[in-house]
Amino acid sequence: MKKILLTGALGQIGSELTMKLREVYGANNVIATDIRSAENEVVQSGPFEILDVTDGKAMHEIAVKYKVDTLIHLAALLSATAEAMPLLAWNINMGGLVNALEVAREERCQFFTPSSIGAFGPSTPKEKTPQDTIQRPTTMYGVNKVSGELLCDYYFQKFGVDTRGLRFPGLISYVAPPGGGTTDYAVEIYYDALKTGKYTSFIAAGTFMDMMYMPDALQAIITLMEADASKLIHRNSFNVTAMSIEPEQIAAEIRKTIPSFKIDYQVDPIRQRIADSWPNSIDPTAAKEEWGFKAEFNLEAMTKDMLEKLKEKLAAK
Ligand code: SER
Repeated sequence: MKKILLTGALGQIGSELTMKLREVYGANNVIATDIRSAENEVVQSGPFEILDVTDGKAMHEIAVKYKVDTLIHLAALLSATAEAMPLLAWNINMGGLVNALEVAREERCQFFTPSSIGAFGPSTPKEKTPQDTIQRPTTMYGVNKVSGELLCDYYFQKFGVDTRGLRFPGLISYVAPPGGGTTDYAVEIYYDALKTGKYTSFIAAGTFMDMMYMPDALQAIITLMEADASKLIHRNSFNVTAMSIEPEQIAAEIRKTIPSFKIDYQVDPIRQRIADSWPNSIDPTAAKEEWGFKAEFNLEAMTKDMLEKLKEKLAAK
């Protein structure tokens, strides 16, 4: 990774990944793109271009203009939005991905795109979900993710594109909101805890899903991309997780800092159905063995850091 192009750079992952990559690889070597602009550090701290990922020609032109050797494709609709607008999700998630893979093939770029716990479905083993298992998701997002994993493997096998991916769990962060995901409750809960001291969850108590704190997710992307290709048995895409948790556990952890914090429930049937179709806990052993994945933050460490950083952020507004 020397000259990196990111799509979806203003999204939840992109906002932080762009800044981290600029720190590690140099500001001018990280070209951020998104469908919109914004007045923030991603746009101001290095090269930035407007890009709609469904426009393959425009993506190719940017890749050529900056002579990139790495493409990190993040632009996508998340699970709940995709379920509300399935055809649009297919067009953006699959259209964007195939355009990005074509650019990577033509310009000989190393390639990363995230998959998700959403690539699993109700017939997948729910506990310690193995790396290689049944993948018959029942959501449009999941259909996109499984198709994406297969397409990335195909580009590796057929064209030799160095494609790599991670099946991310819910990602928790304080910089940019996720938006339209099923695991978003685990981000909103921290904002509401600090703003109002209470949270109404759209996911039911007792619903376990995997989660990970953003710093661990960013490090995982960099470690995987830098990993020795000869050690990779899998490519698209690796199970990674830091914790398997449900709403009451986050609430209990928040109460260690904010003792009066209250949680109640108004379950959203659509997002609950999506959550119920996903694993309770996935097994990241392949990622550990093949390229040394590890997560630093458990629920306790994440909650402490999240509440501290978010408090500063909200006070600065
Ligand atoms: N966080 C994502 C979502 O909830 C899962 O990949 O859609």
